[in-house]
Amino acid sequence: MAEYSLSPTGEKFQLPEQKDYLEEFGRLKMLVNNQRGLGREIVVVMGVGFVGAVMAAVVADAEDGKGNSTKFVIGMQRPSTRSFWKIPLINRGLSPISTEDPEVALMIDRCVNKKKTLIATFTYDALKLADVVIVDVQCDFLKESLGNVKNGRADMEALEESLEIIAANIDPRALVLIETTVAPGTTEQIAYPIMKKMFRKRGITGDPLLAHSYERVMPGKNYVSSIRDFWRVCSGVNEEATRRVVKFLNEVINTDKYPLTVLDRPIESETAKIVENSFRATILAFLDEWSLFAEHNGVDLIKVINAIKARPTHSNIMFPGPGIGGYCLPKDGGLGVWAYRHIHGFEDDIFKITTAAIDINDTRALHVAQLTRDALRNMGRPIASAEILVLGASYREDVGDTRYSGSELIVRRLTEMGGEIRVHDPYVLHWWEFEKQDEYPSKAHSLKRFFRGQEKLRDLRVEQDLRKALKGCDAVIFAVRHQPYLSLDPEELVKNAGVPLAVIDCFGILDDDRIMRYFELGCEVKGLGRGHVKRIKDQVQTRKEEAIRSTWSSSISRQAIDKS
Ligand SMILES: NC(=O)c1ccc[n+]([C@@H]2O[C@H](COP(=O)([O-])OP(=O)(O)OC[C@H]3O[C@@H](n4cnc5c(N)ncnc54)[C@H](O)[C@@H]3O)[C@@H](O)[C@H]2O)c1
Repeated sequence: MAEYSLSPTGEKFQLPEQKDYLEEFGRLKMLVNNQRGLGREIVVVMGVGFVGAVMAAVVADAEDGKGNSTKFVIGMQRPSTRSFWKIPLINRGLSPISTEDPEVALMIDRCVNKKKTLIATFTYDALKLADVVIVDVQCDFLKESLGNVKNGRADMEALEESLEIIAANIDPRALVLIETTVAPGTTEQIAYPIMKKMFRKRGITGDPLLAHSYERVMPGKNYVSSIRDFWRVCSGVNEEATRRVVKFLNEVINTDKYPLTVLDRPIESETAKIVENSFRATILAFLDEWSLFAEHNGVDLIKVINAIKARPTHSNIMFPGPGIGGYCLPKDGGLGVWAYRHIHGFEDDIFKITTAAIDINDTRALHVAQLTRDALRNMGRPIASAEILVLGASYREDVGDTRYSGSELIVRRLTEMGGEIRVHDPYVLHWWEFEKQDEYPSKAHSLKRFFRGQEKLRDLRVEQDLRKALKGCDAVIFAVRHQPYLSLDPEELVKNAGVPLAVIDCFGILDDDRIMRYFELGCEVKGLGRGHVKRIKDQVQTRKEEAIRSTWSSSISRQAIDKS
């Protein structure tokens, strides 16, 4: 029976059948012959996901000093039901990822339809034609329990499988550049032996030309420039691999302005990536305890942070929001911890800070459910069966990427507590973590497994109309700093809800004037790190009492005058 892959907009694409492979390879060979005639190098990008799709376009867009395209890129994606749709989309010149950077769509369209330097395919035979292979498949880190990264493990399956397929197909002179974030040691101790063994099987005596250079891509407004116009670190397994990777990156990345750092060994490049992200996870986790301190002691952590930031040495201090999501920060430190034991064979427990940071970040969102419960309780409404609207599904502001977002955990915990959840996000059409929770992010690895009563969340749909979403709500949670949420007017919001409601600020979104207005309108307000809301509430209460007292005393004096 024919199988289909469904795009995020609902378009159905039939998966290729056996007979399609031969025809597809024929098409590729013809295209590649023409492209070689034009003097272009053939680059296969394996895995056209969040990183690979844009990297493929950046390479396809590269030109020499005279404005001639220097590369022909084939984006290679395995034809799974989950991902196949990306191939026909790219071949039409459409971006498979939704992003706020208009350059992504423009660049893919330009390279596919005008420059004709980018195509996508499903056949591994493409590898046979490559001068350079870029590996952008995922390397996941699977956690066995919530808030305990130490008992997780790296999931190397996709990466190991990809490397074996690459080694079985490529010309031995092809450069294989691993961009995937990997457990330090992977290139030399996992990738190299896999490829070497396969080369031997094929009767190839030479060494694979393997290199590592990690991506620092930041989904959002500067997606393309965070790949092309940014500093890169790289390293090869031997001199030739290093020479080739440096040459290649100089040709496709803006290294004149953002010079390359070449490290001696791939494990150093791999470690640099893991340390970079562990550092960021750590500075974010650091404020979790101070956030609770602030809530318990009438302190507004947002103002405290702004005061500290004025000092240039501390300008990168950051408010953590409801948990640290995205694909990288929750897992990358874990890859390092896992590698120490399982690749390098050490038994001692040297990791204290990185693991604590990830565990704190992974559970911070649960506190939002407590604040919601308390705010509703203060209004005399039980959380069970309360209608709760979560504003923002993605992991950070103004992007449509929902991977490991704090909002997911908020929804899961509140559902467990009996709340009825609605969600609004201007950038997210489908929240696959719920709609496909049995297979997303991968089979049996949904965060669903850590909570009870999650079945109904399969029906959760992202509402695009904020007014509709607000109607009849008991609580609203500002979970993400999306632009449209920053200026929401309290009067409008309460009017749309129809009743005063509990308002939870997870990201320092509400200024004091708005917080005061919500209290004046009869709402209850709470926020992560926002201990000062109680002071504002008391001020509003005092003012209300004073107003009652003055109305009362003026009516008494009026009565006295009337009597006299
Ligand atoms: N997303 C980010 O913001 C970001 C930032 C920096 C680094 N990274 C790193 O980049 C790497 C890729 O991340 P991503 O976000 O693009 O992941 P992704 O899941 O979006 O993409 C990976 C793609 O590889 C494909 N794939 C898996 N096995 C394959 C195979 N055998 N053959 C062909 N294709 C295959 C998958 O179907 C998927 O489309 C990861 O190591 C990640 O940590 C990601």
